[in-house]
Amino acid sequence: MKEEIEKIKKLAKEQIEKSIDLKQLDDIRVKCLGKKGELTAILRGMGEIAAEQRPVIGSMVNTVRDELEALIKEKEEKFKEDMLKLELQKEKIDITLPATKIKRGSKHPVNRVIEEIEDLFVSMGYDVVDGPELETDEYCFERLNLPKGHPARDMQDSFYVTTEYLLRTQTSAVQARVMMANEEKTPIRVICPGKTYRRDDDATHSHQFGQVEGLVIDKNISLADLKGTLEVFVHKMLGENLELRFRPSYFPFTEPSYEVDVSCFKCGGKGCSLCKQTGWIEILGSGMVHPNVLKMNGYDPEKYTGFAFGTGLDRLAMFKFGIPDIRLLYTNDIRFLNQFDRKDD
Ligand code: DAH
Repeated sequence: MKEEIEKIKKLAKEQIEKSIDLKQLDDIRVKCLGKKGELTAILRGMGEIAAEQRPVIGSMVNTVRDELEALIKEKEEKFKEDMLKLELQKEKIDITLPATKIKRGSKHPVNRVIEEIEDLFVSMGYDVVDGPELETDEYCFERLNLPKGHPARDMQDSFYVTTEYLLRTQTSAVQARVMMANEEKTPIRVICPGKTYRRDDDATHSHQFGQVEGLVIDKNISLADLKGTLEVFVHKMLGENLELRFRPSYFPFTEPSYEVDVSCFKCGGKGCSLCKQTGWIEILGSGMVHPNVLKMNGYDPEKYTGFAFGTGLDRLAMFKFGIPDIRLLYTNDIRFLNQFDRKDD
C-alpha cells in the first residue's frame, strides 16, 4: 500500500513538473486528489486494511495530498505570474516613441485684427459691444440721419429681407442701438466689430465683410479727440511712422465728415501699385456725430458732442499682413491660414 502511495506521489510530482498550463495542472489534481482520484480511492478502501495500519496509511495519504496540493498551488501561481508577464509584455507602450502630431488650428487673420483692436480700445477705456446682423431699416438708416428716399442710401447696396428688415450694411447701426439703449443718456465709449453685408460682388469686394465702428459721446468732445484717437489706432495697428491725412468727405451721420488716408506703408509715400501712385491709402471714414443723430437717439446736442469712425476689417488685415487678394481670407486654404499661427497664443 505504501509503495502504491509512493508511486502515485512520484508520478504526480513528475506530471506537475512537466505540466505546461493550468488545464494540465487541473487534470492532475482531479486524477490524484479529486472525488474519484487515486488518493481518495485509497482512503475509501481503508476498510480492507488491517486496523493498526489504518492510521499510518491515513496520515501518509494526508501528507502526500498536502504535499501535492502545495506543489500544484506553487505551479499554478507560477503559471499565473507568467501569463501576467506575457500580457504586460504584449500591452507594453513604448513611451519613448514620438507622439503623433496633432494639427492645431490657427487664428484667422481677421480675428487677429479684431482681437488687437479690442485690446487697444479696451486699454483706452472703451467697451466692446455687439448688435444684430439682421437689422431694421430704422437702426441701419433712419436713426443715422438717412430717411427713406435719401440719396445717400444708394451708397450702400443693401440686401433687404422684407421692406423693414435687411442685413446690416454698416456697423454704424450699432451707434443708434447703443445710444437708444442708454436710458440715462450718460457718456458712451464703445467699439463694435462685426459682420456687414452689401450687394457688391466684384473682384475687390465681397458681399460679406467685417467692419469695426467706434463711437464716443461726452461733454466737450472735439475734432482733436477724434484725430488723436485715430492716430493712436493707426499707429498701433499699422506702424508708428505712418502719416495720417484727414480728407473732408460726406457721411449722413457725421458733420463734419472725413475720410482718413494713411501714407502708403509699402512705398513710404513715393507712389506704387498699392497706393495707385498717390502715396496715400484710404483706410477709414469718420467725423463728429451729427446733431440730428444725437437728437434722434435721445442725446441733447447742446450738452453733448461726439465722434464716430468706421473701418473695414478685411482691408485692415490685408494691409497689416501684406495679403494680396481678399479671396484668400474666405477660401480657407490651410497653407495660407497656418502662416498666422503664433506660438504665444
Ligand atoms: N459706415 C460707413 C461705411 O460703411 C463708415 C463710417 C463713416 C462710419 C463715418 C462712421 C463714420 O462711424 O463716422 O462706409
